[in-house]
Amino acid sequence: MPPAIETRALRKTYPAPVAQRRARPSGGATSALNGRGEVLALGGLDLAIAPGEFFGLLGPNGAGKTTTIGILTTRVRATSGEASVAGADVATHGALVRRRIGVVPQRPNPDRGLSVLENLLFHGAYFGLARTHTAQRAQQLLEQLGISDKAAARVDDLSGGQQQRLMIARALLHEPDVVFLDEPTVGLDPQARLALWEILRTLHRDGRTIVMTTHYMEEADQLCGRLGIMDHGTLLASDTPAALKARAPGETIVHLQLDGDADGAGAACRALAGVSRVDVSGSDLRAYCRSGAESLPALLRTAEAHSRSVRNINLDKPSLETLFISLTGRRLD
Ligand SMILES: Nc1ncnc2c1ncn2[C@@H]1O[C@H](COP(=O)(O)OP(=O)(O)O)[C@@H](O)[C@H]1O
Ligand SMILES: [Mg+2]
Repeated sequence: MPPAIETRALRKTYPAPVAQRRARPSGGATSALNGRGEVLALGGLDLAIAPGEFFGLLGPNGAGKTTTIGILTTRVRATSGEASVAGADVATHGALVRRRIGVVPQRPNPDRGLSVLENLLFHGAYFGLARTHTAQRAQQLLEQLGISDKAAARVDDLSGGQQQRLMIARALLHEPDVVFLDEPTVGLDPQARLALWEILRTLHRDGRTIVMTTHYMEEADQLCGRLGIMDHGTLLASDTPAALKARAPGETIVHLQLDGDADGAGAACRALAGVSRVDVSGSDLRAYCRSGAESLPALLRTAEAHSRSVRNINLDKPSLETLFISLTGRRLD
């Protein structure tokens, strides 16, 4: 079966914001700016997502998730490289792609002058669907999504979670093969978030290909069959959540916050038995250990021997978070 989504060496640069361009001669370049004063949002992305997958793009703000979704949904034009969705090239067959996809944007963008049902009827008309068919399908979707009592309501009278459900109903109205959701649970309260998770699981069980972006590790872990971890416009790792977690080095990460720079103590800790790796950043020291309990006393002694007091101690279990730290040296949030 051909992939539902495929990208090859996908690149996107944006012109730098005017304020940054002006600041450059004196202030120097921001890290995201390349030599030509452009923002590098995607640095050559290679992705292949099979039909029926629930794929998650996980990464911090600025990683390039929305840009990726933008290109795949034909809203953003790539600078170079290729991308196809449901077998159609996004650059040359945009209209075909748009008919086969449903998009739930990062911020709900319903037509606020229309009622809930009218929003769906309007969308159906845009896709050339017969009005009676659209009305039936809209009613059915509103029921499935638990907002059928809101059909006549104005959009402004809906809660954030209800607006998000309207966006999902709109995305599904024309029966797309592939559904894109860009950070769909941002701003939702915990209850609405769990309800949305159930909706997404149902969409997946129905056989649709789902591509979702998120910066919530737990969400990615719970929902997605496969994840791509992104940072600074590149894919750092891509696998099932279980395989990614198994790749996180060590059994435990002992995180010590010292009262001064951790370079000397870090170098000494690297030599300790049971410590597979040590990352140092300023006064933070992270030791990847076979056993946190076994290594902690030696790590504390080593810090003291380098004239450092320990301000704070954290023990982190292997998780997507610890994998992200090991890949980037930073926390995801
Ligand atoms: N329209 C734009 N103009 C200039 N820079 C942009 C634009 N959209 C995104 N960027 C930049 O591109 C990078 C990736 O952004 P984005 O794709 O929105 O990442 P994410 O969705 O992961 O937060 C960031 O550095 C962001 O500031
Ligand atoms: Mg985004």
